Amino acid sequence: MYPNVFVSSHPLVAHKLTLLRRTTTEPKKFRELVRELAGLLAYEATLDLRTRPLEVETPLAKTIGAELEEKIGLIPILRAGLGMVEGIWELMPSAEVWHIGLYRDERTLQPVQYYNKLPVGATVQVCLILDPMLATGGSAVATVDILKHWGAKRIKFVGLIGAPEGITHLHERHPDVPIHLAAIDDHLNEKGYIVPGLGDAGDRQFGTG
Ligand code: PRP
Ligand code: URA
Repeated sequence: MYPNVFVSSHPLVAHKLTLLRRTTTEPKKFRELVRELAGLLAYEATLDLRTRPLEVETPLAKTIGAELEEKIGLIPILRAGLGMVEGIWELMPSAEVWHIGLYRDERTLQPVQYYNKLPVGATVQVCLILDPMLATGGSAVATVDILKHWGAKRIKFVGLIGAPEGITHLHERHPDVPIHLAAIDDHLNEKGYIVPGLGDAGDRQFGTG
């Protein structure tokens, strides 16, 4: 695989992902697992955030601690990426959230954009793109294109399951974007679904389909 693809080896991630995949997992539990997995993966994906020294006074003495230096943006790809926001926001409550609306055309599998309210000029230094599924990679590539056009300098993709096809596509188009995943699955089927995967991540969260 590629040097900037990171697959979590954390036992909690493996355990929760297995529950997520299960057909019998209901939307309420599914949403809970997506939220928890997102937090665990974001924890690993933000290991290299920059900090600056900050003096702090404890009840006993002054000491030098650290504070985050960079402004972080969470970029959920609607709809399915929405479920990943809360779990990460709990860890970094001052992150800005900018939604990008894309859906995959069922026939061509190409992403179609329907929502983008980014202001003129990037307002954050680090962008975490959130989407549970990296299938053909079309949606992720389109989102990185949008963010780079916006002026974003450091972009990371945080997903749950990637197909080899999608990872290759995203890496070839944007080799500077690290890809953080809970698992890499076997292949895409003829309809562009990840196998074994978990089915439709949007439908399973929102109880549609
Ligand atoms: C799913 C998923 C990704 C996209 C991945 O969204 O959440 O955004 O497909 O596929 P790709 O890598 O081939 O682009 P979908 O289009 O089903 O929309 P939804 O989240 O609104 O259900
Ligand atoms: N989108 C999904 O929700 N699931 C897949 O397997 C592929 C794309």
